[in-house]
Amino acid sequence: MGLPRTRSLRDVVLILLGATTMHLATVLFQEPGSIIVSTQVSSHFMGGINDSAISHLNVEDSPLEKEEAQQPLGTVESESDIITAVDIAHDFPETTLVSHAPGWTVYRNLYMFYGTLYIVSSQPMSAFPDIMFVTSTGLPAENTPENIALRMPTARDMDVITPSQARLLWGGDPDKAERNRIWPIEGNTVLINEPSQFLDHYYHFCAEFLLGAWSFWQSAFNTAASSTSWTSSRAPPIDRMIFAHADANGWRDRPGFNAYFLRAAFPSLAVEVQEDWQDRIAATSSRGGRPRAWIFDTVMLTDRSAAFRGEACGSRTQRIAAEAVEHGRKLGTLAADWWEPIRRSVLRFSGVDEKTLAIGYHVDAQRGDLVVAAATATHDPIVVTYISRQGSRRHLIDDDHATLVEALTSMCDAHGWELNVVQAERLSKEEQLALAARTTIMIGVHGNGLTHLIMMPVTPISTVIEIFYPTGFAHDYEWTTHALGMRHFAIWNDTYHSYPETVWPNYPEGFQGTQIPVHAPAVTQLIQDRIAGRLQ
Ligand SMILES: *[C@@H]1O[C@H](CO)[C@@H](O)[C@H](O)[C@H]1NC(C)=O
Ligand SMILES: *[C@@H]1O[C@H](CO)[C@@H](O)[C@H](O)[C@H]1NC(C)=O
Repeated sequence: MGLPRTRSLRDVVLILLGATTMHLATVLFQEPGSIIVSTQVSSHFMGGINDSAISHLNVEDSPLEKEEAQQPLGTVESESDIITAVDIAHDFPETTLVSHAPGWTVYRNLYMFYGTLYIVSSQPMSAFPDIMFVTSTGLPAENTPENIALRMPTARDMDVITPSQARLLWGGDPDKAERNRIWPIEGNTVLINEPSQFLDHYYHFCAEFLLGAWSFWQSAFNTAASSTSWTSSRAPPIDRMIFAHADANGWRDRPGFNAYFLRAAFPSLAVEVQEDWQDRIAATSSRGGRPRAWIFDTVMLTDRSAAFRGEACGSRTQRIAAEAVEHGRKLGTLAADWWEPIRRSVLRFSGVDEKTLAIGYHVDAQRGDLVVAAATATHDPIVVTYISRQGSRRHLIDDDHATLVEALTSMCDAHGWELNVVQAERLSKEEQLALAARTTIMIGVHGNGLTHLIMMPVTPISTVIEIFYPTGFAHDYEWTTHALGMRHFAIWNDTYHSYPETVWPNYPEGFQGTQIPVHAPAVTQLIQDRIAGRLQ
């Protein structure tokens, strides 16, 4: 998949210095697609270039580079730094780290040359996060030792070089008034390194990737003071997303929610896909030409495999967004209602009115790692939505479904609550979103239909009730519900399980089947307790 991997950086340097053979020259300047990676010269330097090899060739830092001010790592830059224009014609701006959690990393001045991302810095590699927590080879994931090893990034995926090494590669000759051969990718980019394996699914794209990306982007640029509410966020707009390993269909789901959400949330955002990324790779090295690099002004690099190497995702939640959200919570730079701007944009786009958007609005309190709405927030009217899966593969015992509908109907009639029993696939996108936008209690068997919970208003009684085959569990909707500040209950027939109790993923026989039981009175009792405030 994709282009053949680039040669080691040293090979390139050797070519530039003329210390090479015809064979190497042919390797470098062949058109992409026909390149054969030379094994004769492949090297395994930890940091790519062998420094002693370089100094041996008499290349030294220029005084100018030595004097370049160093940005402290891991800090948010001031506004003035962000808007300062850098003269990339003559300088190699150094890469700085803005923020990092496993799978989510924001850099300024990150370089790309022949498919490899380069950190250009006079600091050692150890000053930056280990690349295994930043990126991967971009291959689809399988749970085998071979595949896990194949996804481990190497210096071909990401490397650290010094400004003088960058000059060797892409520098113009100052004596001839030549400009550096680096071209800017201006503004703010999200570079998505994961393949289409999960991206083409509504839950994984909207409730995992987008949710993680938005939370990380917000907290990377916010301070505690600017994260009291999403309205005071100082995170800059996102200009483009580049799906490096997914083609135009690779990030689209079949029902079409992914494209709908992305366009609604970010109407001006430009999307590039794998083919565009390959164009950019090819453009860094052409037959007979001199190598050039792209430089990202500000880029958030996201990688699913790298997120899974983190503790929150890999050991606890299996949710890539967990690394992003927990990082922001720890720093105190994630507003309680951080998701609200995306939710509002999507719902406004779909035609939901302002009165509905204002339901329960007044989110300002925090409890543990759960965000809860203020006790004053109201949720009027009460809307109970049961998303039925009886038309799909995994579903309830037919009698239990019928009994549940009867019990919900009489409960809602008795209290004057609105009840919707829907099969999502029979509604238009707009109808589905309009319903989620006003739902107080969402009920359903574990499945993609529950992804709409990301469009529910967050109030103290907002609740997701997920029905599993008894003893079965998965974190998908539970984690997502809590990340947004709502309560989640897993139903096993006549019992429920909820935070702070820990339930581990489990897929018993029957999990995917058509005989999932549910004891209706357990569900209606739970709903009444939640709405009455007896279950906080
Ligand atoms: C770098 O190159 C020098 C000279 O060729 C060699 O002696 C040294 O072992 C190399 N270092 C690494 C880390 O490969
Ligand atoms: C579900 O719970 C009810 C009420 O306790 C019980 O009568 C029924 O047998 C249970 N069903 C299953 C499949 O366990």
